[in-house]
Amino acid sequence: MVMLRRTTPDEERRTVLAAGRAVTLRAVRPEDAALLVEGFERLSAESRLRRFHSPLPGLAPGQVEFLTRVDHHDHEAIVATIGGLGAETGVGVARYVRSRTDPDEADVAVTVSDEWQGRGLGAALLRRLGERAVDEGVTRFTADVLAVNSAMLRLLRVLGPTTAERAGPEVCVTVELTPGQPGPAAPSSSGSDGGGSVGRTGHRRRHRGRVEERPAAGEGPTWTRSARPTPW
Ligand SMILES: CC(C)(COP(=O)(O)OP(=O)(O)OC[C@H]1O[C@@H](n2cnc3c(N)ncnc32)[C@H](O)[C@@H]1OP(=O)(O)O)[C@@H](O)C(=O)NCCC(=O)NCCS
Repeated sequence: MVMLRRTTPDEERRTVLAAGRAVTLRAVRPEDAALLVEGFERLSAESRLRRFHSPLPGLAPGQVEFLTRVDHHDHEAIVATIGGLGAETGVGVARYVRSRTDPDEADVAVTVSDEWQGRGLGAALLRRLGERAVDEGVTRFTADVLAVNSAMLRLLRVLGPTTAERAGPEVCVTVELTPGQPGPAAPSSSGSDGGGSVGRTGHRRRHRGRVEERPAAGEGPTWTRSARPTPW
């Protein structure tokens, strides 16, 4: 189980992934609007569908505002960038949005640019976000994940044991966060670095259904894109 260390919202970390490529992890700022839009536009249709549970064609200005104006307490977002100041490219983002009804709980979502997937970046982002969440009093992450999204189902286990409920084509995953010192290693880091409601991180959420033991990755019905309304 991962022990999450204390951190601050303005901390920037240079992180070297297993594949030897370095990224900077830092909190999202209001001036990151162009960075996020550009990153979204590079996302494949499949990644958009997996993140937003809808084949979202683009981000509306209100969505961009929501995704970039985070208060670092009830809503935190960590972006992974490459390139220097003024020439940054966003290659991944992880965010949590605290539940309105349970302050201990937050909805979590992670997106990694297609060309960066499978290199440990999702895990690095999620660990950093988990640290921030614990510092802000969140003790539990939840995520509605398409059952076919085995990468995200595996990724969430980075933070600890998960429990899952199956709801149609989705799996509603819960992971308990474990505060502690020191944080476990990202590969290396150095610092100064169907019906239902709308999920707080931005995708549409189905009502939770019958409880099942952790479903096998990839199990479940195939998602039909037309069945899901635009999530905003
Ligand atoms: C899901 C996602 C964030 C994972 O990020 P990533 O950087 O590719 O993941 P990592 O390289 O850190 O790997 C994390 C875990 O997932 C596993 N994984 C990665 N890609 C995988 C794949 N295609 N199939 C199965 N498992 C995979 C890794 O093996 C690792 O598990 P392990 O630690 O047990 O070995 C990324 O694939 C993505 O952005 N997908 C599109 C958007 C999306 O689905 N977001 C989630 C919405 S809730």
